[in-house]
Amino acid sequence: MAITIDAPLDMHLHLRDKEMLKRVAPLSSDSFSGAIIMPNLVPPITTKEELISYKNRIKEAIGEDNFTPYMTLFFKPTYTKEFLESIKDELTAIKLYPAGITTNSEGGVSGFNVEELRPTLEAMSELEIPLCIHGETNGFVMDREAQFVSIYEMLATNFPKLTIIMEHITTKESVEALDRFENLYATITLHHLMITLDDVAGGMLQPHLFCKPIAKRPEDRDALRRVALSGHPKVMFGSDSAPHPQDAKESCGCAAGVFTAPIALQVLTQLFMEHSTPENLQAFISDNAQKIYKNITVPRKSVVLEEKPFTVPDKYGTVVPMYAGEKLKYSIREIK
Ligand code: NCD
Ligand code: ZN
Repeated sequence: MAITIDAPLDMHLHLRDKEMLKRVAPLSSDSFSGAIIMPNLVPPITTKEELISYKNRIKEAIGEDNFTPYMTLFFKPTYTKEFLESIKDELTAIKLYPAGITTNSEGGVSGFNVEELRPTLEAMSELEIPLCIHGETNGFVMDREAQFVSIYEMLATNFPKLTIIMEHITTKESVEALDRFENLYATITLHHLMITLDDVAGGMLQPHLFCKPIAKRPEDRDALRRVALSGHPKVMFGSDSAPHPQDAKESCGCAAGVFTAPIALQVLTQLFMEHSTPENLQAFISDNAQKIYKNITVPRKSVVLEEKPFTVPDKYGTVVPMYAGEKLKYSIREIK
């Protein structure tokens, strides 16, 4: 049976820079219509010049592919309304990282003092620029996201007109927060729908499944699956595909990030065909995002998948993907 997905969108993607950018960008731009591009380069994207220059490097890397990179800035509480107005046309969202919580986030926010954040967040609210958040405290690793829910609530209450996106949610507590606040939304990754901490560290350690936030308990994965598979209108697909070279993953001090871009559509199709409907897959992978992000225009593209085995390559350049060497049930037949 063939399944057609219209205009797939990846609302959380790391494309990196230089050789890695050239290697991984086409693996998203051939099959996706667009993606929210994360700004955590070294140094992070914080100026208009850096943002435009990065967008141009991405465009060069994707060649003729019909794909829009939706650009983001790395949040700073010092952004003024005047600055944001000047960059608004180039910008789709701003990404807030707590300081030091994940790869290249050292210059992020510490303390979450609402008055310190207010001028920038009010300006974003007025200009209708969505705020994407990596929601983890620096507490015990399994509790970081649940502890952050009170910060999401503080922000959602103080800035009721601001669109706040809880990025890559992994817990039932975040799922529950979704319905308590009108302006809270979420992205969910492929890997958090598929694995729990057991898959990462229950047997031999699996560095290619190590990421931030760490995968959690079966009941958390069940909660994520419930909202994704039902096509809940406040959740959207964001792969958080985060490539690192093999030697940075298979090393003492393993880098955090799972590389899923080239397998995401195939695995999501299998998951939804087994547990849900093609309509809900379409909602999760494109339609919900288009309603939540009112400031994007989406290139037309249709991807036809069919039930035919696809063996995942062992590597893409120096990067090992999730399910490397394994046989998936669905493959991409046509992209038009
Ligand atoms: C991401 C990366 O490598 O940039 N890593 C990850 O484990 N998800 C950063 C992030 O999104 O946290
Ligand atoms: Zn990420």
